[in-house]
Amino acid sequence: VILVTSAGKVGAEAARVLAAQGIPVRLLIRDPEKVGTLARAGVEAAIGDLADRPSIDAAMRDVSGVVLVSPAVPDEEMNVVRSAAAAHVGHIVKISSKASLDSPVERRRNQARIEQGLIASGVGYTLLRNNAYMQNFLMLAPAIASTDSFSSASGDGRIGMIDTRDVAAAAAAIAAHPDDHLGRTYWPTGPESFSYADAAPRLSAVLGRHISFRSLSFAEQRQAMVDVGVPAPIAQMNAEAIALFAQGDSDWVTDDVMSITGRPPRTFDQFVTDNAEFFTVPASRQS
Ligand SMILES: NC(=O)c1ccc[n+]([C@@H]2O[C@H](COP(=O)([O-])OP(=O)(O)OC[C@H]3O[C@@H](n4cnc5c(N)ncnc54)[C@H](OP(=O)(O)O)[C@@H]3O)[C@@H](O)[C@H]2O)c1
Repeated sequence: VILVTSAGKVGAEAARVLAAQGIPVRLLIRDPEKVGTLARAGVEAAIGDLADRPSIDAAMRDVSGVVLVSPAVPDEEMNVVRSAAAAHVGHIVKISSKASLDSPVERRRNQARIEQGLIASGVGYTLLRNNAYMQNFLMLAPAIASTDSFSSASGDGRIGMIDTRDVAAAAAAIAAHPDDHLGRTYWPTGPESFSYADAAPRLSAVLGRHISFRSLSFAEQRQAMVDVGVPAPIAQMNAEAIALFAQGDSDWVTDDVMSITGRPPRTFDQFVTDNAEFFTVPASRQS
C-alpha cells in the first residue's frame, strides 16, 4: 500500500493516479466530508491528522511507500517520517520546494529541515523540489473573473511554473517504482519560464477577453492575500517567495517531469483551459 499524507491539490491527484493504475493507495485525510469522491476513485481513506502520531501509525499499516505532502510543518511531517521508520517502510517521496536552511523564506527553511530529517532517518527517499505551482493562479481567479485584471509583486521575474497534476504524476511514478529514484533529488518544472506579466496575454487568448496585469509592492502583495483570507504568517511567507520571483530566483526549467513520467509537463495554456470556469463569472451571475 502507498500512503499519501494529505488530500490537497498534489496529494488527492497522486492518490487518484495510483488508484487508476490499480496500485493500493491510502490517503490520510482529516475532513471526512472529502472522502466520498476519492473513495469512488478507488482510494482508501484513513481519517487522521498529521499532528496526531497515533492516527499516522494506524494509517501506516501494511504501507511499503509514502508520498509525503502537506503544508510542510516540520513537527507534522517528521511524525510521518518517524512513523514510517518505525514501520520499516521502504521509501518516501517528499514533496518539497527550493529548500535551503539559509533561505529568507521560512517555508523553504522548514522544507530543508524536513528533508534533512528524512535523509537522517535511514528510510529510502526521493526529493521533489518543485518550482512554483500554476495553481497559485487559482487564488487570483476570483479577481480575474470579476475585474478582468490581476496583480502581483513578482515584477518581471520569470518562473518555470508547474501544474500540480504533473507534480502528482511524478510523485506517483516514483512511488510506483522507487528503486529507480532512490536517494535522488529532482527539480520538476513546467515546460517554460514566464512572468506574471507574460501570463496576462495568455489568459486573454485562452479566455477570449482582455485580462490586464498590475505590479504590486511587497506590502500590497501581503495585504492582498490577507484580504482574500490567507492567514497573516502564510501571507508573509508567500509574499517573501513572490519577492524572490522578482529577483529571478525561480527562473529555471528542467526536463524532470518528462524523464520521470515519460510525458511532457502541461503548458500554462492547458492549465488555463482546464480551469477556465474559475476565471470566468458564470452567465447566471452576470448582471
Ligand atoms: N504553492 C507552490 O507554488 C509550491 C511550490 C513548490 C512546492 N510547494 C509545496 O507543496 C506542498 C503543498 O502541496 P499542495 O499544493 O498539494 O497543498 P494544498 O493543496 O494546500 O493542500 C494541503 C492539504 O494538507 C492538508 N492538511 C493540512 N494540515 C493537515 C494536518 N495537520 N493533518 C492532515 N492534513 C492536513 C489540508 O487538509 P484540509 O483540506 O483539511 O485543510 C490539505 O488537504 C507544500 O509542501 C509546499 O511547500 C508548493
